[in-house]
Amino acid sequence: MTDLKTVLVADDEPSLRRVLGSIIQREGHRVVTASDGQAALTALRKGEVHTIITDLRMPQLDGMELLRRAIVEYPDIPVVILTAHGSVDSAVAAVKLGAFDYLEKPFEQQQIQQVLAKALRTNELRRREMRLGGAAATNGRFGLVGTSAPMRTVYNVIEKVADTPSTVLITGESGTGKELVAKAIHEQSARHDKALIKVNCAAIPDALIESELFGHERGAFTGAVSAKPGRFELAESGTLFLDEIGEIPLEMQVKLLRALQDGEFDRVGGIKTVKVDVRLVTATNRDLGKEVESGRFREDLFYRLNVVPIHLPPLRDRRADIPLLVDHILEKFRSRLGKDVRALDPDALAVLATHDWPGNIRELENLLERTILFCEHETIAAADLPAPLGGGTSERPALVTGDSSLKEIVRAETERVERQLILSALEETGGNVTHAAKRLKISRKSLQNKMKELSLRDPEGGGQKG
Ligand SMILES: Nc1ncnc2c1ncn2[C@@H]1O[C@H](COP(=O)(O)OP(=O)(O)OP(=O)(O)O)[C@@H](O)[C@H]1O
Ligand SMILES: [Mg+2]
Repeated sequence: MTDLKTVLVADDEPSLRRVLGSIIQREGHRVVTASDGQAALTALRKGEVHTIITDLRMPQLDGMELLRRAIVEYPDIPVVILTAHGSVDSAVAAVKLGAFDYLEKPFEQQQIQQVLAKALRTNELRRREMRLGGAAATNGRFGLVGTSAPMRTVYNVIEKVADTPSTVLITGESGTGKELVAKAIHEQSARHDKALIKVNCAAIPDALIESELFGHERGAFTGAVSAKPGRFELAESGTLFLDEIGEIPLEMQVKLLRALQDGEFDRVGGIKTVKVDVRLVTATNRDLGKEVESGRFREDLFYRLNVVPIHLPPLRDRRADIPLLVDHILEKFRSRLGKDVRALDPDALAVLATHDWPGNIRELENLLERTILFCEHETIAAADLPAPLGGGTSERPALVTGDSSLKEIVRAETERVERQLILSALEETGGNVTHAAKRLKISRKSLQNKMKELSLRDPEGGGQKG
């Protein structure tokens, strides 16, 4: 019968496996059991599974880790979490991560039957969807890769609003693809054969931003030797993309608001008003709502920009897209770097699946680029991945997540690496700062300064010169 479904039950308690097993069998399904997460993974690799029911706390590889891997490697299989009475918090975390549902122990037979029926039905739908998606050979849309639910929402919004004049505010952490979305909106609009002008507001000094956006007349200020159109004018009939909009100073916000409301503005030092037809798309990795609350961003401008919000989810909230992104990135680098690295082995993929990706897709890209450069074979193994990842999944880089900018992330990452290098140099030289400095190819003084900066104890007490 084609209708026979297989349910994988992972729990370290034999009695629970037995009870669950018999309930599931009575429903007419096949049961495979595993006593820990590792065994569950083996079972998954061996054969067809339609739903997973797993305990959270298990030896070796726990339920959370099993969940993370299943989401990436078997995105069609719903994962139901079993949680001990009173530890609902972790179950909620699991559901946020992508678990299908959770059941609190002790559970009623009927609860299992209900959840199982829903999960199996979802599995069927997901499989059908994947087959259809596969037939259309899509791994995303508009140049963006990803088929996860949050990305499909993004595609829908892009499709609906691209060809309207409404302003769009794209939000999301650093490296989530905001610029790609801005491009997609322009390309899907009737303005696609006109200019897409990009301005990075964070890169322009406050004093110059007005003339950058609105242009200036000759002699408007020292250095304005000739008249120059601003980006608004250059974007005429096209799209203007103001990136890092959260960074523009308050006085500029007033002027921008006026330009948007009236569709016109003055060049700096200009007498006549310039009219433009420009579609505005903006992006920020800040929480503009919060910026409004704290008075750093004008509320009226915020509403004017936020007509159509598009939020890009962080990569850790759409882990199911990781394999597609990996394929896409490998393909991109294959030709660019001239290296024939074709795939990741399952262990390497598992490492990527469980990493938290504070730098999102940009971090994934950078990581794969580095890995490919040093990889001497066609398939990337876990050991080929850079140290903080490949070493093990439990040791995550001590990165700031959430709203941190790429700069902050890079700084934190640099500090972490510096600390490691210094500590191992000191270890190797038995705590001799002079020798450690030599090894690190820096002066003794710089090493001591660095150690102070990183709050590392100077084993020689510091102070004396070397
Ligand atoms: N969905 C995606 N599919 C494929 N590549 C992506 C996707 N999202 C982002 N990328 C790639 O990741 C990198 C970062 O993307 P992008 O510059 O658009 O991010 P961002 O959100 O603008 O980041 P920042 O806030 O740091 O400017 C780019 O190389 C981009 O091509
Ligand atoms: Mg960007």
